[in-house]
Amino acid sequence: MDLVVRRGGHALSGVLVPPPDKSISHRALLGALLCEGETVVEDLSEGLDVVATRRAVEAWGAQIEVLDPRRLLVRSPGLQRLREPGDVIDVGNSGTLARLGLGVGTLVAGTTVLTGDASVRGRPMDRVIGPLRSLGAVASARGGDRFLPAVVRGSRLAGGTVELQVASAQVKSALLLAGLGASGPLSVVEPLPTRPHTEELFAALGLEVGEELDPAGRHWIHLQPGLPYSPGRLRVLGDPSAAAFFVVAAASRPEAHLEVHNVYLGPSRTGFLEVLARMGATVERLGDQTLVVRGAQLVATEVEPREVPSLIDEVPALAVAFALAEGTSTIRGARELRVKESDRITTTAAMLRAFGAAVHTFDDGLAVHGPVRAREPREPIVVESHRDHRIAMSAVVAAAVLGVEARVRDAEWITTSYPSFLNDAAALLGVAIEHVEAPPS
Ligand code: S3P
Repeated sequence: MDLVVRRGGHALSGVLVPPPDKSISHRALLGALLCEGETVVEDLSEGLDVVATRRAVEAWGAQIEVLDPRRLLVRSPGLQRLREPGDVIDVGNSGTLARLGLGVGTLVAGTTVLTGDASVRGRPMDRVIGPLRSLGAVASARGGDRFLPAVVRGSRLAGGTVELQVASAQVKSALLLAGLGASGPLSVVEPLPTRPHTEELFAALGLEVGEELDPAGRHWIHLQPGLPYSPGRLRVLGDPSAAAFFVVAAASRPEAHLEVHNVYLGPSRTGFLEVLARMGATVERLGDQTLVVRGAQLVATEVEPREVPSLIDEVPALAVAFALAEGTSTIRGARELRVKESDRITTTAAMLRAFGAAVHTFDDGLAVHGPVRAREPREPIVVESHRDHRIAMSAVVAAAVLGVEARVRDAEWITTSYPSFLNDAAALLGVAIEHVEAPPS
């Protein structure tokens, strides 16, 4: 399905309550699976990635009952009695479920087989399988252990220290999950701090988990193996990565004013706010879960490699702000973007170029020469989403802030993370959005 976005023209102002956070939702379900007995999960993401995790949690032995539209009851046999899945687990488009699922698989007596869609089957899994094996896991995958499908067998791992080569919350989380069943304490060292949702979950489940930064800036996470206990209820806050699309739109229009309520603003998720503030937007935090953003004519900035893990999912949206800013903005040290739902260095650059922006790509980043001016294009603007939800949503934002009409291809992929995006976009961006059938390819 394609989308045609037509200019609406009203200034962006209003209140956004973003959808529940995708990363935290995956972990809330897996946490509920690991606890014996009942856990209520509140405000779970309805994105398709998280639907895939719901099915996986059922395959590993939990029962899920919908109590009301905002609450699920998860009944689980718990970590020591997880069930061998009766079929292959389909992670859909979700890299997070693929990686975390490999960790959970080590805890399950028997064999867990994981596969997913064409995009996720092209994403690297050796980054998880290698470190898991170094602790004694029995796991393998297609293409010399690089790609899904993958097979993992339950076995008791050794503790120890694992030093990760890439800053990846997914890899760290896979190891921490596997570490719950290890015979001794586990330390995971990441080159830079990444989102701490698994550590936050473990603390909520009464597990012993600690962290420290060493003098070289590396981040250590220490885990004592143990049995998690249900706190009764796990609640998911709003997704800053979903809010980012509207925050960028507000930040880059001088007359705009946006409030974001009930949003997770914890460590390693808010780098994009610092970048937008550096570019001239006013970004105010009111308490722990509210943001106020006022727009400006933005100026270019440089994003440093050390900032990348804290804004890794926001780069396509931030790139729209770069295109509107005066001067050349750069981001380097972001090679990880090449192995997301699409190669986001290439697809972000192509998306911006469709709107007339001048973009240079590096192996590990982008340079965007702004500001691109709204113009009457001779040809209709067509943007390929490359079946990447964040590219599709960024293209809608670019069309809205530039005030041009654009057709966004394969936009149904937005539902992997943000099923209500089009409603929020129509309400806040003032654009008219029409669904059109894609022409046969
Ligand atoms: C995620 C971690 C990030 C992020 C992804 C979700 C998570 O991936 O890009 O959307 O939930 O742990 P990496 O950890 O591989 O960078």
